[in-house]
Amino acid sequence: MFPRILILIHLTICISGLPSIKEIEEISEQAFIYGYPIVDNYRIMYAYAIGNNSQYKGPFNQIVNMDRLLTPNDTIVQTPNVDTLYSSVWLDLRLQPVILHVPNVEQKRYYSVQLVDLFTYILGYIGSRTTGNAGGKFLVVGPSWQRQHKHVKINKELFEKVFYSDTDYVFAIYRTQIFNNDDDIKNVTKIQEEYKVELFQEHFNVTKNQTKNIVKMQKKVDFPAYDLSIPVMSLKSKQFFNLLNFLLKFSLPVHASEVKLYKRFSMINVRPGMQFPYNTFTVKQQHAFEQGIKTAKILINKTLNSNNVSSINLFGTRKSLKTNYLERTLGAIVGIYGNEKNEAVYYSYRYDQQHQQIDCQHNNYTMTFQRLPPVKAFWSVTMYNEHRLLVENSINRYSINSRMEKSLVRGNNNQSITLFIQQHSPGKELESNWLPASNGKVLVVLRLYWPEEVVLNGNWTRPMVVKTNN
Ligand SMILES: *[C@@H]1O[C@H](CO)[C@@H](O)[C@H](O)[C@H]1NC(C)=O
Ligand SMILES: *[C@@H]1O[C@H](CO)[C@@H](O)[C@H](O)[C@H]1NC(C)=O
Ligand SMILES: *[C@@H]1O[C@H](CO)[C@@H](O)[C@H](O)[C@H]1NC(C)=O
Ligand SMILES: *[C@@H]1O[C@H](CO)[C@@H](O)[C@H](O)[C@H]1NC(C)=O
Ligand SMILES: *[C@@H]1O[C@H](CO)[C@@H](O)[C@H](O)[C@H]1NC(C)=O
Ligand SMILES: *[C@@H]1O[C@H](CO)[C@@H](O)[C@H](O)[C@H]1NC(C)=O
Ligand SMILES: *[C@@H]1O[C@H](CO)[C@@H](O)[C@H](O)[C@H]1NC(C)=O
Ligand SMILES: *[C@@H]1O[C@H](CO)[C@@H](O)[C@H](O)[C@H]1NC(C)=O
Ligand SMILES: *[C@@H]1O[C@H](CO)[C@@H](O)[C@H](O)[C@H]1NC(C)=O
Ligand SMILES: *[C@@H]1O[C@H](CO)[C@@H](O)[C@H](O)[C@H]1NC(C)=O
Repeated sequence: MFPRILILIHLTICISGLPSIKEIEEISEQAFIYGYPIVDNYRIMYAYAIGNNSQYKGPFNQIVNMDRLLTPNDTIVQTPNVDTLYSSVWLDLRLQPVILHVPNVEQKRYYSVQLVDLFTYILGYIGSRTTGNAGGKFLVVGPSWQRQHKHVKINKELFEKVFYSDTDYVFAIYRTQIFNNDDDIKNVTKIQEEYKVELFQEHFNVTKNQTKNIVKMQKKVDFPAYDLSIPVMSLKSKQFFNLLNFLLKFSLPVHASEVKLYKRFSMINVRPGMQFPYNTFTVKQQHAFEQGIKTAKILINKTLNSNNVSSINLFGTRKSLKTNYLERTLGAIVGIYGNEKNEAVYYSYRYDQQHQQIDCQHNNYTMTFQRLPPVKAFWSVTMYNEHRLLVENSINRYSINSRMEKSLVRGNNNQSITLFIQQHSPGKELESNWLPASNGKVLVVLRLYWPEEVVLNGNWTRPMVVKTNN
């Protein structure tokens, strides 16, 4: 009698921490879909600003300028563009706001600074479309500093604009248009050199020592290592939720709209700052976590495979994406740090006009624009392999874009432009219109930067990819 009661009590205590197996599965699925973009974002933050690896770019709050277009060797960020030179900086806002200085950029040149928080929500933009080309000073403020400095009034007059982030880390992505690959690189690098990052305190002439102390304190976070050879999709629940819990603590307090959701997550120990106690779970419970993740992945795959539409709903502010976490995750998968629709619209093509998967090992394809795409900035068509990375080819051409318009061969009364999407050159005469493909299944992405209204209201019809075998 006695031992049996003890055992029963013991059992109840063991599982009382967790809900039923079915609920673990359900919440784990939901938390994976919620957390995927956050963990994937950390993978990139770790590669760029923390870990010792070949893709490391620089420490927090230090801007890094790329003085070249990306190539197939750049493999950390999926679906990169080859139309603009990138600059980037990971902002650490825990201890103080950060000021971004932007120079005057000549009118004809498009540029943008996209501010993305840890959740991959877009805070806002600096740049041609939004704040104009005149430049200025912009302030970015994080939640921790705000919490601790409620009494400090920021003098907004000092800045063109103040951005408030829900997370203490923010990725600022600068895209500066480049007109040609030769003499224009110099012009762009000159602009890039004037993109500056300044700490708020420095701005107010705090002594060097104080600044030094702040910098020292900022180093204190014990960042968990991320093994870059493992994609987030392949992480086990133990690693995934451990990273997620670590990251959620940089976004406190929990957003009012998510308090209930976080309460639910906490039922399975997904909770800001908590060490995920995987080893204390029973085998059955551990299995339920994996099963939840698996169900999430199946749902993601199903949605992705039916999603050949556009980026229009996948990227944006917290307000515009509402609580559609699946779309936030799809956005991170198809192109983390994608622009919101007013800045750029992306059309991904995995399937041709006949609904067959595009396969350049066996087939040739074309894409025809009856007229140039309706944009205020520029357009491009870029080739990616199955892993959404750029493709090596004999002429080092990874995209065709509007800066090549003059050299493109035209048809139909000098109006239409047909691009050749295939592995081998379509011949000398048409080579300017050739988008070299990899040997296999590919992904083609059409980008419209700063699209006209007709695109946003759905009245523009994108061209199809059409099979043209001999
Ligand atoms: C960084 O990695 C390289 C190559 O793996 C290694 O030789 C070097 O010691 C590492 N440096 C640090 C500071 O860990
Ligand atoms: C990629 O890296 C390899 C090895 O470092 C180099 O030989 C090659 O030229 C690079 N490719 C491009 C397109 O930069
Ligand atoms: C780049 O700058 C040079 C020198 O100022 C100028 O001659 C050239 O036209 C610029 N190139 C472009 C594409 O604007
Ligand atoms: C900080 O000092 C510099 C140089 O003395 C001065 O130009 C600047 O206006 C000061 N900044 C503030 C916010 O007072
Ligand atoms: C700054 O730090 C140095 C060395 O730590 C110290 O000698 C100096 O007195 C400090 N200056 C001020 C103004 O506190
Ligand atoms: C999802 O799709 C990817 C790539 O198509 C595949 O490797 C993976 O096994 C799929 N996952 C699930 C759970 O179906
Ligand atoms: C997406 O592709 C599928 C299969 O190729 C097709 O049936 C569907 O109509 C397409 N949807 C849109 C919105 O283009
Ligand atoms: C064709 O159109 C392009 C771009 O509008 C123009 O530069 C070119 O002169 C035109 N060619 C002919 C033959 O009309
Ligand atoms: C799209 O075009 C049609 C026909 O020109 C027009 O009637 C309709 O109002 C347009 N839709 C929007 C959302 O502007
Ligand atoms: C694709 O185009 C290349 C180059 O023009 C040609 O040699 C090849 O036969 C074409 N392939 C198919 C399947 O039509």
